[in-house]
Amino acid sequence: MGAVEEGPGPISVADYERRASEVLDPGAHGYFAGGAGDERTLRENVAAFARWRLRPRVLVDVSEVDTRTTVLGEPVSMPILVAPVAFQRLAHPDGEAGMARAAAGAGTVMCVSTLATARPAEVAAAAPEARLWFQLYCFRDRGVTRALLSEAVEAGFRAVALTVDAPRPGRRERDLRSGFRLPAEVGVPSVATATGAQGPISVADVLRLVDPALSWDDLEALVSDSSLPVLIKGVMTAEDAVLAADRGAAGVIVSNHGGRQLDGVAATVDVLGDVAEAVGPGRGADGRRGEAGNRCGNGAGPRRPGGAGRQARPLGSGGGGYRRRQAGPGAAPRRARAGAGALRLPRARVGLARPRPAVLLRVPGPLGRRL
Ligand SMILES: Cc1cc2nc3c(=O)[nH]c(=O)nc-3n(C[C@H](O)[C@H](O)[C@H](O)COP(=O)(O)O)c2cc1C
Repeated sequence: MGAVEEGPGPISVADYERRASEVLDPGAHGYFAGGAGDERTLRENVAAFARWRLRPRVLVDVSEVDTRTTVLGEPVSMPILVAPVAFQRLAHPDGEAGMARAAAGAGTVMCVSTLATARPAEVAAAAPEARLWFQLYCFRDRGVTRALLSEAVEAGFRAVALTVDAPRPGRRERDLRSGFRLPAEVGVPSVATATGAQGPISVADVLRLVDPALSWDDLEALVSDSSLPVLIKGVMTAEDAVLAADRGAAGVIVSNHGGRQLDGVAATVDVLGDVAEAVGPGRGADGRRGEAGNRCGNGAGPRRPGGAGRQARPLGSGGGGYRRRQAGPGAAPRRARAGAGALRLPRARVGLARPRPAVLLRVPGPLGRRL
């Protein structure tokens, strides 16, 4: 982006959004800013945040405020990570390398997309101090997928986030209207390898490289083959979060892909509480939720709109142990086969025997969309 000549420059997210619409080509801007279908979910992601209300607690010493937390055991300066966003050189010549340097500077983790405009090893080399995760789209061509993953592992990436909410390309109507195609000069190494060609290509055609047949068995195979923790990105229900834990995922990333995939699903922030309730940090012996992971405030939690004030539990691990609840019919095939009602495991066994997944509240749609 060019320099802002007058005034203080962009200071709010909305300022950056406006600025992006000024400096990006209309087609590229439509790709970055748009959602799927009628963009109901895109708007709902924003509206939901506007509906939530804070419940401030007072007379708590806030002379020192600490936003640090941990994610998968990794210390981060704040409970915000950089979401995987494809094609970053489309917005800035520094692309993913610049983003990785910025993430490192901010003391947080960056998740690099499969559809990055640089190879995983290049991003790692450009920002040696960065802590990187690799977002994986499992391509129909498993050879390409495996090669990308090995490169990320060798380059020192620390986790894999398997995106599961894009088995089919979302119908991005802005792209259809603008006829947007990735310019040939914005090379996407994974796509070039998978298609054997480099040239203008539509986003839908890129997403058609993703294997629509991916299943829980594939996840389990990935988990057992991977030397890195595997998170599932794109979980929106408690049932799927429980399945993810059952199949060995190290965590779930609650996400609707910024409203860019299935239009009409709920806002991410509105379902987070249900997922956290199912697989997140549980209650302590006194029945109250653990307090770890809530170090950046004064004990105030968001009030669920119109609800009982159930608290969303973002990054960090809770103090009370990992709790599971009944996930509903057909939710856990393996366990169901083993015996009816097996989902109701005693808490102690769950806490000891199962991995404790991190339930990540990531940057919501409008924030995550900005570069
Ligand atoms: C322009 C753009 C590109 C994106 N590319 C990817 C991607 O390559 N892989 C992926 O898993 N998610 C991708 N996302 C989704 C984001 O990682 C993220 O989920 C979204 O911006 C925030 O919405 P959420 O809070 O519902 O997750 C992209 C989002 C945007 C706006």
